[in-house]
Amino acid sequence: MALSGNCRFWIITGVLFFTLFSISQQACKFPDWYHGEFYSQEKGQGKKTFIQEDLWGNFRCRELIIMNETVNKLTGAKNAIISVTHESCHKCIYVLYRTENVLQYKSGDCFTSSVSLGEPGKCRIYRPASDQLMTLYRLKIRTVSCKTTFEGMYHFTYEINEGGGGICNSKDSIIRACQEPGSPYVDNQLFLMTYGKCRGVTNSKFQQFRFQCMGSWYGDDGFMYAGIANTVANEDRARFKCLLTKKDQNPTDNKFLWVRSQYSECSLLSGIYEGYERLVVQPVPPVTSYVQPSCNLPTNLTGTWYHVGEYDSDVVINDTHIYFKTKFDEFSYEEQYFSCQQTLGTRYLMTKITVGKCEMDFVCFDILPRHHSIVRFRIGKPNRLTQDEEQDKDYLLKKFRQSCTWQAFVLNRDDYDWKYDYLIFNPPTPIPCPIGGRYRFIQFGHDNERYKTRIRGVTDKPRVQVDCRHIESEAKSCTKDMTKMEIDAEYCETVDYRGRPIGEYDESDHVLKCVGYWMEDLRSYLITYDDEDAVSNFRCWVYERITWTEVILSRGVRGKCKRSQTAHSSEASDGVSLKLEMHESERLYDDCPQRFDPGYDPYKKPMTIYVLNSSFKNTAFSLLVLIMAFAALLNLNL
Ligand SMILES: *[C@@H]1O[C@H](CO)[C@@H](O)[C@H](O)[C@H]1NC(C)=O
Ligand SMILES: *[C@@H]1O[C@H](CO)[C@@H](O)[C@H](O)[C@H]1NC(C)=O
Ligand SMILES: *[C@@H]1O[C@H](CO)[C@@H](O)[C@H](O)[C@H]1NC(C)=O
Repeated sequence: MALSGNCRFWIITGVLFFTLFSISQQACKFPDWYHGEFYSQEKGQGKKTFIQEDLWGNFRCRELIIMNETVNKLTGAKNAIISVTHESCHKCIYVLYRTENVLQYKSGDCFTSSVSLGEPGKCRIYRPASDQLMTLYRLKIRTVSCKTTFEGMYHFTYEINEGGGGICNSKDSIIRACQEPGSPYVDNQLFLMTYGKCRGVTNSKFQQFRFQCMGSWYGDDGFMYAGIANTVANEDRARFKCLLTKKDQNPTDNKFLWVRSQYSECSLLSGIYEGYERLVVQPVPPVTSYVQPSCNLPTNLTGTWYHVGEYDSDVVINDTHIYFKTKFDEFSYEEQYFSCQQTLGTRYLMTKITVGKCEMDFVCFDILPRHHSIVRFRIGKPNRLTQDEEQDKDYLLKKFRQSCTWQAFVLNRDDYDWKYDYLIFNPPTPIPCPIGGRYRFIQFGHDNERYKTRIRGVTDKPRVQVDCRHIESEAKSCTKDMTKMEIDAEYCETVDYRGRPIGEYDESDHVLKCVGYWMEDLRSYLITYDDEDAVSNFRCWVYERITWTEVILSRGVRGKCKRSQTAHSSEASDGVSLKLEMHESERLYDDCPQRFDPGYDPYKKPMTIYVLNSSFKNTAFSLLVLIMAFAALLNLNL
């Protein structure tokens, strides 16, 4: 069937039109991630820009290059450079996608003839500097989490660059970025910023703002920026603000500097000291009524302790509170307060608050009685108080049952292989070492980790003058001071004609003080302290006597022994940096009898009857034993 001429004409026109149309469409169509209505403040004027398919405000898109690098992995958003035209103005614009709600751009000059991308003198393709960028804020804000801007509780001081005055440091100035229970907002997309008033600072006043987060981004200048919107501002100019900070400020006391713009321009912020308003922000503990203690901790826990976890913590305990300060690196740390609420036997229900966090948790501590300079404990799973539970007047009892059941201490039901965690009194009180005697030893471990000879102080040892024929590695803990373990990597064993060591003036290279020991799961653990140890003052050892004269020990990397560490371990995978095999080798005049305590009962009083005197020992040893036995009998009879 032949088509009528009229019909053919329309088909051809239609195809032609469609082809032309789709070419122009494909050639220049803004990607979706730019679409929307935006506000910006430019040269002191507020401005709205509506970005659609191929329109940037009044300007129509002509050409577009999309950069390769993806800025937002979720939406696939990228930066772009575009050339646009409106009436007789042709220009190119560099657009940076920052967050779902914020774009930044730099617009080139207007030319009367068309501008093509990359054209010299008209449209250079280069990334503009931060202070040249205009910031566009989305008017219909898409919800984003405040997590990257503020999360938690902070105190701040502020100083406004206008109207005179100085720094206002009021205890009422608080940023509260918390997830509100029962609030219509799913996540924390808002934060509350309360400005306190300071007497003597004329431009300070009491004010409260609820800001919605618009996301944050890193500029090419290394600063972190964040867009925020005042939720109740009645004009757009006062609605949008830009914040700037720097992540690696190496803060003291976790204080971070921020600056805030007066209106929306980010380009007016040029560093953490330059901006309309300067803020010093520091995390604070959340305000709750549960820091009030209602029970007491064992009195002999009071003091300063050291805890080895993933990071080292200093722990301060008083009658009612446990305070943890965990150092992440040289500058940043976290603080936690636990307050005693309920107790039964060895279990203590405590509230836990973390400085800078919003939440309060209940956790249960199972604390064993202290022995030596050690207190062993376990922590149960944390538990929140729901609003319903709060109504109940017996909620503490219920929480105790929930948090302090024995199952609560097993974080993972299948992982019943737990062991106690421990605190070490710091500085520790040395106790008699569980291993005594004089030993030769062999070391296994990386060369850096082995004990080596050190020349202490400035006194040169007269070793050169001594004809030392026999050098051994020596470890000893003798009657003179049983709380020390002295280690000499190269000890001169040679004795003179009287049987006395000729290396008598040798000073030990390393002196370890014994801090505490115990047995758990049939393994004996020992904690030592050496203030000259560059890696860690405290070290955890696992030790075992394998024959009457041989003891083996493995030394943990730090003050904590890994679960898999045994006395036989020498591998880094078991957390071990060194292994010692020690063979008893007491000599005639050493006055260093062997002792060994596997730590079955760390609570028992240390044995101190080793009063053997070297001049006495060999001739009168049996006599001494008799006298001691007799004395013991007398004691019994009394
Ligand atoms: C994007 O990558 C392609 C190939 O890797 C390269 O040819 C092109 O120049 C890049 N475009 C931009 C804008 O960097
Ligand atoms: C115990 O420590 C807490 C927190 O460090 C403190 O608030 C409290 O006043 C202290 N209690 C006593 C009796 O010192
Ligand atoms: C600490 O006190 C507990 C009881 O409160 C007791 O069992 C333990 O032996 C004490 N430890 C030390 C080292 O005083």
